[in-house]
Amino acid sequence: MRIDIVTLFPELCGSFLNASILGRAAKKGLFEAHCHQIRDYTTNKQRQTDDYPYGGGCGMVLYAQPIADCLRAVTAQCEAQGRGKPHVVFLTAAGAPYNEQKARELAGYEAVTLVCGHYEGIDERVIEAFADEEISIGDYVLTGGELASLVVADSVLRLQPGVLAEEKGYQEESYWDGLIEYPQYTRPEVWEGRAIPPVLLTGDHQKIDAWRAQQSKARTRARRPDLYETWCETHPLTVPKWKRGENARLIKTEEQLDAAAAIYHAAWQQMTADTTTQEYRDAHTVAVMREELVNDRKNGWALYLHTTAGRPDGLVGVLHKTGEVGRLYVAPAAQGQGIGAKLLDFARKKLPEQEHPHLLVLNVNKPARALYIRMGWRPAGVQRYFTGPECTVQPVYEELFQF
Ligand code: ADE
Repeated sequence: MRIDIVTLFPELCGSFLNASILGRAAKKGLFEAHCHQIRDYTTNKQRQTDDYPYGGGCGMVLYAQPIADCLRAVTAQCEAQGRGKPHVVFLTAAGAPYNEQKARELAGYEAVTLVCGHYEGIDERVIEAFADEEISIGDYVLTGGELASLVVADSVLRLQPGVLAEEKGYQEESYWDGLIEYPQYTRPEVWEGRAIPPVLLTGDHQKIDAWRAQQSKARTRARRPDLYETWCETHPLTVPKWKRGENARLIKTEEQLDAAAAIYHAAWQQMTADTTTQEYRDAHTVAVMREELVNDRKNGWALYLHTTAGRPDGLVGVLHKTGEVGRLYVAPAAQGQGIGAKLLDFARKKLPEQEHPHLLVLNVNKPARALYIRMGWRPAGVQRYFTGPECTVQPVYEELFQF
């Protein structure tokens, strides 16, 4: 691959590309990088590259002509090497957002030319005439496109075969699989009183891989719910096997109802902790929650209590007349063991007569939304908004999900 950077600061860009991993890779001939001085293509005596904007306003605007002539020269060089016309990218704050997917796409071209703007901007006509695309590296404004072009060059060149020590390297990393990276540690084993996670010393690679995958997922879910949701859509969850001693039984006795109310209360308090007032949560006592379940049953809901080795730890309900699944709660102490996934699957299978069972979930309940998406349920519209004084964040709304 060949990358060309068209800039007013070729030395700055060149010093970055010649350093460290990329510098070594370029010396090995794994790619070619060239930086071009826009000023060298000026035609005026003063070698001026910019001028005042038509229509007034502050700052200076880069001339179209030197950029155009520089791009023509780069194209001629690429063609002389038998590469064909390079893919031309202008780096501007107004471009399309950059991400790893775009990096992989650019890495597939034989030649990419990155054009750096400076000052207030670039004469739009040269962008119209030459740009295959405009890219922004984030929602902030830089003084010029140099750092942006280096970000793009770095993320594209590291994908070239042989640039990273281990080919496998980049496949495992952040975003490759749509998740952010698991935490890494090196020597010493204990640093300033902080020990590394013990699993990393077991030498059991299956266990280590499982731990890393779990860390990646948990971090992505907490830090980048947007990425996590996309990941969930493409990584369906297989329902964990029911263990021996695990059951879901229709609630019939008062004792079962008491146990369900306790689970419902604890899980509901946890779910609403970040988004409702303390006063509102305090009003939802175990007795209040129990009353809700009693009313559910009067309204036709079949409620099931999940137990593990005789201990109640989960709850789910189905309403046959409408095909709704609801009241899916797992006791806080039993979460993270797949009980939610099992109960959701169980409830759906209790509704074989329904082509598309549905359920309602709060938009702020990210773990539940993620589970539903991984289990093949999809958002199907907003049901109703909550705007009462009990809400400490906005917006809060109920979303309809369909299987
Ligand atoms: N030039 C100025 N700001 C920029 C940004 N955020 N991305 C790309 N180029 C830029």
